[in-house]
Amino acid sequence: MRKLLFTTVLFMTAFADGATASDVEARIDALLARMTLEEKVGQMTLRGFSSRSKNDSEVFEEAVRNGRIGAMLNVMDKSAADRLQHVAVKESRLGIPLLYGRDVIHGFRTIFPIPLGQAATWNPGLVERGARIAAEEASTYGVRWTFAPMLDIARDPRWGRIAESPGEDPYLASALGAAMVRGFQGESLSDPTSLAACAKHFAGYGAAESGRDYATTNIPQNELRNVHLRPFKAAVDAGVRTLMTSFSDIDGVPASANAFLLRDVLREEWGFDGFVVSDWDSVRQLQIHGLTANDRESAFEAVTAGVDMEMHGDAYSEHLEQLVEAGEVSADLVDRAVARILRTKFELGLFDKPYTDPRDLPPIADTNALTTARQAALQSVVLLKNDHHVLPLYMEELESVAIIGPLADAPYEQLGTWIFDGDPELSVTPMHAIHALVGDHVDVRYLRAMENSRSRNTDAFDEAVQIASESDAVILFLGEESILSGEAHSRADISLPGAQAQLVQRIRETGKPVVAVILAGRPLTLTNIVDLVDAILFAWHPGTMGGPAIADLLFGVESPSGKLPATFPRMVGQIPIYYNQKNTGKPPSPDTIIHIDDIDTHAPQLSFGMTAFHLDAGYTPLFPFGHGLSYAYFDYQNIRVSEAEIGLGESVTISVDVTNTGDIAADEVVQLYVRDLVGNVTRPVKELKAFRRLHFRPGQKITVEFDLHTDELAFYGRNMQLMTEPGQFHAWIGGSSATELRTEFRIADNN
Ligand code: BGC
Repeated sequence: MRKLLFTTVLFMTAFADGATASDVEARIDALLARMTLEEKVGQMTLRGFSSRSKNDSEVFEEAVRNGRIGAMLNVMDKSAADRLQHVAVKESRLGIPLLYGRDVIHGFRTIFPIPLGQAATWNPGLVERGARIAAEEASTYGVRWTFAPMLDIARDPRWGRIAESPGEDPYLASALGAAMVRGFQGESLSDPTSLAACAKHFAGYGAAESGRDYATTNIPQNELRNVHLRPFKAAVDAGVRTLMTSFSDIDGVPASANAFLLRDVLREEWGFDGFVVSDWDSVRQLQIHGLTANDRESAFEAVTAGVDMEMHGDAYSEHLEQLVEAGEVSADLVDRAVARILRTKFELGLFDKPYTDPRDLPPIADTNALTTARQAALQSVVLLKNDHHVLPLYMEELESVAIIGPLADAPYEQLGTWIFDGDPELSVTPMHAIHALVGDHVDVRYLRAMENSRSRNTDAFDEAVQIASESDAVILFLGEESILSGEAHSRADISLPGAQAQLVQRIRETGKPVVAVILAGRPLTLTNIVDLVDAILFAWHPGTMGGPAIADLLFGVESPSGKLPATFPRMVGQIPIYYNQKNTGKPPSPDTIIHIDDIDTHAPQLSFGMTAFHLDAGYTPLFPFGHGLSYAYFDYQNIRVSEAEIGLGESVTISVDVTNTGDIAADEVVQLYVRDLVGNVTRPVKELKAFRRLHFRPGQKITVEFDLHTDELAFYGRNMQLMTEPGQFHAWIGGSSATELRTEFRIADNN
């Protein structure tokens, strides 16, 4: 069924009924000519069932009938959705269909790893397949618009929404964001299984001060363009149909009133022709920010900045008509916003097929969905350390294994944040999967030991120690429950919560091999436990099929291949810490730093390196961006460039020989980094420019080539123009951002 649908999609035109773009424009114009101002404002209004409201379709029927609502979110009762849609198309004056939106973030019923976990796969194809499955499942409920992907660059793991982000790097985020857009939107938007995607939150939300959600952001324009805007540009280039503004204040103008972002950049520079929706009530919040004095002013600021649709809130519905009638907002501006919304509805085929019929759609949580979720989980898990090759565990060598911890058998917690429609009953937990995989050969003993990840009660620790002492190996399932990350769930201390570190300490004292599997929504500071365990598998919140994926990795059925999409700090005080930082005028090095414990009493002020580091943390992270070990071993040799010098507009090929010197087949993500040594603005010390996930047989050598065009080295300089500067470049290839295998090339000055 799924295959059939896909083939059909390929041959579809952009519009469901074979109409051309100009037919559609004519229909939009005809509708606009007949619409009252009230009906136009209605199209610009997104209303939702909230968890606190009565979820009663009758509350909305009258407004839909009167053309006062253009789109709805969170209407997940299919009969209510169909009823309201019927009112819209049959009982409203112009019969304009409703558009149903939902936060389909990392799966619908089948849950994939949290987006940060998906980013750790470095596998855009797999991420695209996951988004496609989510779209197919969600459309069964009439949803045709998802508020995803979230493309906020996140360099602060205290921020709870880092879980929803693609991590710290603009290149990786762009590749994965574009993949999600393709997956959600499918080959043609008019396919009933396609969702319009929504790149959010435009822009800069991830830079919230101290990682406190919704806090102010201060981003210089240069960094905004070179870092934060890049994934959004990639999403626009991939055809994303909608964007959502951010809640946050950026340089004094909250995003929902930011004409620079919404008009100058998005529409004028990038030519975006979809529509922009505000975040939940963020138009009215302009007043709370202190930008406006009342809702009327908020509506004015938002609409003139370029917000086409207001999500929740009444600023548009109560004030826009008057603003137009008073001549403060032009009728033309409103018409253009409405045209963009109608165009998306036409593209989705809603005028011709306003309802989805589950019988026409692929089944939910079928084998394909579960297999893909399992593969995504498998590729998302990062092996952070593996002393003395303690992993994989060999079932032939073990008589017993102890499974201890609050997250070994927690079907809901492994799903992560934003899983409104996920079904915990589908979850296969690690504990169950380990039993299924090795239970016939190995005595598996399980103790939860803590009620939840935050528990401070240590009463069960003696029993945990006893079970551990009687077993050949211990697997600890630690981390954060899902509620500790996500929107409005920021933390100031990002170490393992509750008494988990004490549990690790007690288990270490048994002298048994200890493996920690950590499930969490963010990078954690693991400094206090990293030396107490022999191996760490960092599994994020891995989703429905996390259990079997983790079991396969623990027992060597598969090799880990995830790579970190965000830096793991040693201590919170190092944040923000990210690999693609600037050099500073006083860069640190191993011989210019000193540890606080090694400073002599009365040491003279200038006696040790005058460089950029912390006395108590140095300057390196605990685990760098791109890091991730394997059960295989990858040897990188012979990095070279095709040309030592190229001209602007040309490409250079950078190659390396990678050999799997281990005796196990495994995937490796080969990463290319570049540094532009001199720029008219300072450039990062390293920037990811390409990557490739490759499968290696034992002993196999692959020559990996990356073609790099000089356009890919472009950046925004002092005059805010995107340009590539001639000069010298360093290039590195390796299995993480810490690679030192380097070559160089030059871009000649053509003049
Ligand atoms: C979030 C958005 C989300 C919206 C609708 C807001 O609070 O910031 O990301 O799409 O709610 O649920």
